[in-house]
Amino acid sequence: MPKEINSAISGFYKLPIEERVNIIAKIIDLNEEDKKLLRNFGYFSPSQLDTLIENVVGSYQLPMGIACNFKINDKDYLIPMVIEEPSVVAAASNAAKFARKHGGFHSEKIKSVMISQIQITNLKDISTAKEKLLEHKDEIIRMANEQDPFLNELGGGAFDFEIRELTTRRGEMLILHLLVDVLDAMGANVVNTMAEAVSPYLEELCGGKIYLRIVSNLATHRIAKCKAVFDKDLLGGAEVVEGIMNAYEFALADPYRATTHNKGIMNGIIALTLATGNDTRAIEAGAHAYASLSGQYSPLTNYQVDSEGNLVGEIELPLALGIIGGMTKIHPMARLALKILNVSSANELSQVAAALGLAQNVGALRALASEGIQKGHMTLHSRNIAKLAGVPEELIEKVAKKLVDDKKVRVDYAKELIKGMMRNKE
Ligand code: MEV
Repeated sequence: MPKEINSAISGFYKLPIEERVNIIAKIIDLNEEDKKLLRNFGYFSPSQLDTLIENVVGSYQLPMGIACNFKINDKDYLIPMVIEEPSVVAAASNAAKFARKHGGFHSEKIKSVMISQIQITNLKDISTAKEKLLEHKDEIIRMANEQDPFLNELGGGAFDFEIRELTTRRGEMLILHLLVDVLDAMGANVVNTMAEAVSPYLEELCGGKIYLRIVSNLATHRIAKCKAVFDKDLLGGAEVVEGIMNAYEFALADPYRATTHNKGIMNGIIALTLATGNDTRAIEAGAHAYASLSGQYSPLTNYQVDSEGNLVGEIELPLALGIIGGMTKIHPMARLALKILNVSSANELSQVAAALGLAQNVGALRALASEGIQKGHMTLHSRNIAKLAGVPEELIEKVAKKLVDDKKVRVDYAKELIKGMMRNKE
């Protein structure tokens, strides 16, 4: 029976990390090894961690791999990916090789335009309010830009707004979308600050009441687009291409399948987002919302077959990725990942992410349309299972291979195999 605990710990956030660890250790009965693990902060100092989030008790590591073979807009990239799932990095690298034969990926240049939403309620007269806002557009934009003169000097900043009318169960609302070019940032902080700063003036102008003032993660002015031709023969021939086209039609027609199709795309994009210290939740939310904009949740990629039978793939999704701000410069590994990636702008990072998402999707669909996904997954997974079963280091490869060959990647079977091997040795 798990022990009952009391999770109400007063003033936990005020304590130094060491004391928090001691408290948790006491409540949960952690042993010395557990405590040692919590105190292993890796490349972070405890004080760095303590400034990132609240109630810190440790640091959590994941593997970082490099996806190879990517040529995007005629430049080669080594793409750092942080992910716990086997086969993802290999699949992306393979698919990049298939595209490389036909010149690699072609990503479009995008501007880093973010939307900040301002929710204006309790309006007596919607059309007069709208007129007022439009009449005073220049002042509103100027006021927003006063919040970040440096961004403005660099050529970015607020430059326009859109007004939307919403009919809700709590009455009519005007939603102002302040449009801000955030240049190399992800942009949430700057646009939130701008929206908060202009709101009192908007209230004065319209005579309504403003509630929310916050970025929209559906960054429809920051849509990344990328295209590539994947070689038919390298993919495995015409039959595999057929299979991929059928998989695509399946995703187009069925949201159950489209969700998994897009999950595969996000395997790549989120791994790069995490590696570079960007906000994974923002990217994920934006992507899935964009996938449903038509009213039916749809795939974020599309495919055709060219006259030579090669697969032509395209991807399109909002990518609010930055190379400054947030964790990008604070996290030592994110900084290093950006150095390895060798990009000089947020636009370039988004171009790489879009290419990676497309490659990831092709890699997954190819596996699904040919040998199935489990084989690749199982090779790495079987090693973990062998380790879990207590197989000695020198026999891990042998046992792992047998687990896969016999299609029984299970701890009990690994134990059985090792027993047999030991017996034979005696
Ligand atoms: C697994 O992480 C991703 C896939 O399920 C994607 C797909 O089905 O397209 C393989």
